[in-house]
Amino acid sequence: TKRPILIQGPMPIEAENFAERLEDVEIEESGTTFEFYIGTVDGYPVIVSKTGKGMENTAAATAIAIEKYNPVAIINQGTSGGHDPELNVFDIVLGKRTVNIGSMKTRDRAEGEGIEATEWKPMDVMASEGSAGEDPDAEKARYYDADSELLTAANKVKESYTKGKVVEGTIGSADLWNNEVDRISWFHENYGTSVEEMESASSAMISKAYDVPFLAIRILSNNKTNDGAYNPDTAAANQEYVYEVVQEYIRFL
Ligand code: 5AD
Repeated sequence: TKRPILIQGPMPIEAENFAERLEDVEIEESGTTFEFYIGTVDGYPVIVSKTGKGMENTAAATAIAIEKYNPVAIINQGTSGGHDPELNVFDIVLGKRTVNIGSMKTRDRAEGEGIEATEWKPMDVMASEGSAGEDPDAEKARYYDADSELLTAANKVKESYTKGKVVEGTIGSADLWNNEVDRISWFHENYGTSVEEMESASSAMISKAYDVPFLAIRILSNNKTNDGAYNPDTAAANQEYVYEVVQEYIRFL
């Protein structure tokens, strides 16, 4: 039997449009929050996973899906907030790389010396098996690269998307919603982030732990850097584009 493609979406509005387009669907649950819509696209097995929001839900949903369904590839998709003023609401970012922007080490400051968030350093908990707090090698961000075949398939169907542009970029993830434009710009400059959201780097980390090809595809639902107002309709638009990507990817399997 063929190994399925796994499509992840955190919120109901980020998973259900795609799930509705599956043929021969069966729903399976794990625990009380993880839902898997098991079906086909053009006769090829595809599973839509409603992961729930955030890094922990996503890590668990990814590991469960890999252990249960042995996917051939994973696409994590949904909405995001812009870090790049060149990007507008409804533009789509193909995550050439993803990075956890909540993983940080602070500087040494004694009692009364305050809190200086712009001096915090990125921290790579995967740098070694020793203490990340003491390991100088851990003072860097870990970037997860997209699978090149998934990225190629996504680029090939770019023209099918008419509601905005489709660009390659860096997706930053953390259980964090930044509304401070200076802080957003700080991430954009120091991590090269195009957008932020709360899931992709978590899924990328677990996909890599199992050697499963991975790509994140995120639409901007908001952008504080250019007054792009939040629009929830972006969630459905992204799923339409991801459907095209899946159809393209299937042709090479
Ligand atoms: N910051 C963080 N998460 C965002 N999301 C959309 N926009 C943003 C933003 N500006 C996504 C997250 C999460 C939900 C709150 O929406 O991925 O699932």
